Amino acid sequence: MKILFYDAKEYDKEAFNKQIKNYSDLEIEYMESDLRINTVRYAKGFQAVCGFVNSDFSRIVLEALRGNGVELILLRCAGFNNVDLKAADELGMTVLRVPGYSPETVAEHAMTLAMASNRHIHKAYIKVRENNFSVVGLTGISFYNKTAGIVGTGKIGAAMCRICKGFGMRVIAYDIYQNPDLDFVEYVDMDTLLRESDLISLHCPLNDESYHMINKESISKMKDGVVLVNTSRGALIDTEDLIKGIREYKFHSVGLDVYEEESENVYENRSTEILQHSVVSRLLSFPNVIVTSHQAFLTYEALESISTTTLENAKSFIDGNVMENNQVTYNK
Ligand code: NAI
Repeated sequence: MKILFYDAKEYDKEAFNKQIKNYSDLEIEYMESDLRINTVRYAKGFQAVCGFVNSDFSRIVLEALRGNGVELILLRCAGFNNVDLKAADELGMTVLRVPGYSPETVAEHAMTLAMASNRHIHKAYIKVRENNFSVVGLTGISFYNKTAGIVGTGKIGAAMCRICKGFGMRVIAYDIYQNPDLDFVEYVDMDTLLRESDLISLHCPLNDESYHMINKESISKMKDGVVLVNTSRGALIDTEDLIKGIREYKFHSVGLDVYEEESENVYENRSTEILQHSVVSRLLSFPNVIVTSHQAFLTYEALESISTTTLENAKSFIDGNVMENNQVTYNK
């Protein structure tokens, strides 16, 4: 099977090249560009394409891929909100993903954002480099004995619950299903979580119900001085409402690994360009906000797990026994 690998970065190539030797039936060709309607044509002659979080798997792109003979979509990530599953189903295309690769990797980044923004590490780093050893303006809050509110307690949320417990925090959570492994977590409704949490960390997928779950109304229910972290998907938060909340001093700090309108930026070096969208610049104008570029997944351990599972997914498709857990299908 020939796989066209879109949006290939050095770290992807390194991780996949280590594993591909073990799969004599598979061949990868790497492409730097991501999947867009104008890069579909390169997939001609490939049975599978491999994409990432910002690859465009909309209906029009899927139709063009299918027209080029592509049958299999390999997502080298957990989220699949960028795939039109109805279109994939109608076109008879199989979509396989990597549901859980090192959830601790993502949760550790969530806590990194929480701590770094809370303790102003981004400011302190620059100050000291400028020989400014004043600590005025760098006061943080101790998480010990505070309440962490975790939204979504699947694999990553559960890891975040354990980290917060390790910090000596009371851990409360909201999820549509309760995770039986988390006996130290108190499940509450969303309003209680918003009202009682000192740290709120989002770990649920983006779907119709969760879209803009953090908005003007939910922000107004939060404690003043809350720390908000999002490592899940940008559109869980209504950015305009978040910006308004930050301006009204609602948040002690905010850490975002994902944000709306990120797709043009993520993984691109745009340092010499004049950016036309103002979301990032506006967010970065606030001293209590840290933004990272969708890097929560990026550890050696996670890359190894992603490459192994993605290649296993491709092999299972050839063998005709795809793992149900790794397949995403349209719910009719
Ligand atoms: P998971 O499927 O194991 O857990 C998701 C949990 O969210 C489930 O328990 C589910 O019941 C719950 N949930 C679904 N809808 C909800 C709602 N409306 N309100 C509250 N809870 C809801 O997923 P996992 O592996 O923990 O990943 C979570 C998300 O993290 C992914 O959907 C993905 O968007 C994001 N992610 C981000 C990465 C990054 O690099 N920033 C890397 C990997 C995942």
